[in-house]
Amino acid sequence: MSAEAVSTREQRQEWKERHIRSNDKFVTDIPKIELHVHIEGTMTPELRWKLAQRNKIPLTVGSERVPLSTLAEIREAYQNIRGRIGATSADGKRNMTFFEAYYGGFDLLQTEEDYFDLAMGYFERVAEMNVRYCEPFFDPQGHTRRGIPIGMVLEGFKRAQIAAEHRLNVRSQWIMCMLRDMSPESAMDQYEAALPYKDMIVGLGLDSDEYERPPSLFDDLFKRAREDGFRLTSHCDFNQKDTHDHIRQVAERLGGTGAERIDHGMNVADQEDLMEVVKSKDMGMTICPCAYIRHASEEAVFPRIRKLFDTGIKIAIASDDPAYMEDNWVLHNLHMVREKCSFKNKDMVQLQRNAVSICWAGDELKKELLDDLNEFEMSFSSQ
Ligand code: ADE
Ligand code: ZN
Repeated sequence: MSAEAVSTREQRQEWKERHIRSNDKFVTDIPKIELHVHIEGTMTPELRWKLAQRNKIPLTVGSERVPLSTLAEIREAYQNIRGRIGATSADGKRNMTFFEAYYGGFDLLQTEEDYFDLAMGYFERVAEMNVRYCEPFFDPQGHTRRGIPIGMVLEGFKRAQIAAEHRLNVRSQWIMCMLRDMSPESAMDQYEAALPYKDMIVGLGLDSDEYERPPSLFDDLFKRAREDGFRLTSHCDFNQKDTHDHIRQVAERLGGTGAERIDHGMNVADQEDLMEVVKSKDMGMTICPCAYIRHASEEAVFPRIRKLFDTGIKIAIASDDPAYMEDNWVLHNLHMVREKCSFKNKDMVQLQRNAVSICWAGDELKKELLDDLNEFEMSFSSQ
């Protein structure tokens, strides 16, 4: 492999198996906070199969609509999801792009029970990884444009959220993301329709295909959301067209004063002045390494992460769309940076402290999360 080549799926699978076999207790047991996960991106092949059966929806793959009639076939289709935004390939007609897989999953969500199962599946999965607090994204327009009432989506999520807190000790707050490939008017309408559920939604984000869709298009919405008390963030995915410009908009202007966090934003590391803006504003960044290494070389990814971290920018590691990204959850993303950025125990704790610092939990919960981390660190050093 040449120095700058993208790893193969087999290589990434090998790394993952090695990380799991290493039984690195510091990574498996550390209390975790996850701040970048799309709940719709957690739909496992098993859940896709269950929902398709329950709602009697035939499953297909690719633009040729090849039928998928067993769970094994769905698992295989998940293994063949191509790179992310706008990706195509010679055999793309029989494979899924990331967005085809992701939005294809939306169609299966039809009832409150389905939304409950989606969210509960995520909470159960990450409880096993010792996630204590998370702020999952959801894409309301992706549901309401199919005729699903916003109340159905959020009632399902709310039931799962309450059950997760009581049964699993996983606390959460939701971030509502607007689809930037839809119009700003649609985003504003959706925002207003969700306001009755303000109590369970802590922030507003921006996701989907960012090609020629600068965050500034949504300025009025973000201003309004800030005035209404929502916290603000926006995706600036790695190596996208105009990304430095988009990052600057998010950091300096979005919502009037700039957002508090950037999702991804890895290209901040390319320019000293961008690093300075992010650092001086004490912005948080959510970084999802397993997402990037599917389409960028190791050399492009890990030195940037290390640079951001070493500069003192508050990065937090997360999973993005774990079901569609080779089944890499927050634990696997942490294992990955532990090895590839040579992070020591104290660095792994710092990553979680960063997450506590940039998360939108109340002061009391933040203190509890920090106390848990301190206790974990002490118990480990005394072993
Ligand atoms: N929708 C779901 N995951 C996304 C991502 N990582 N970037 C943009 N849009 C998304
Ligand atoms: Zn994302």
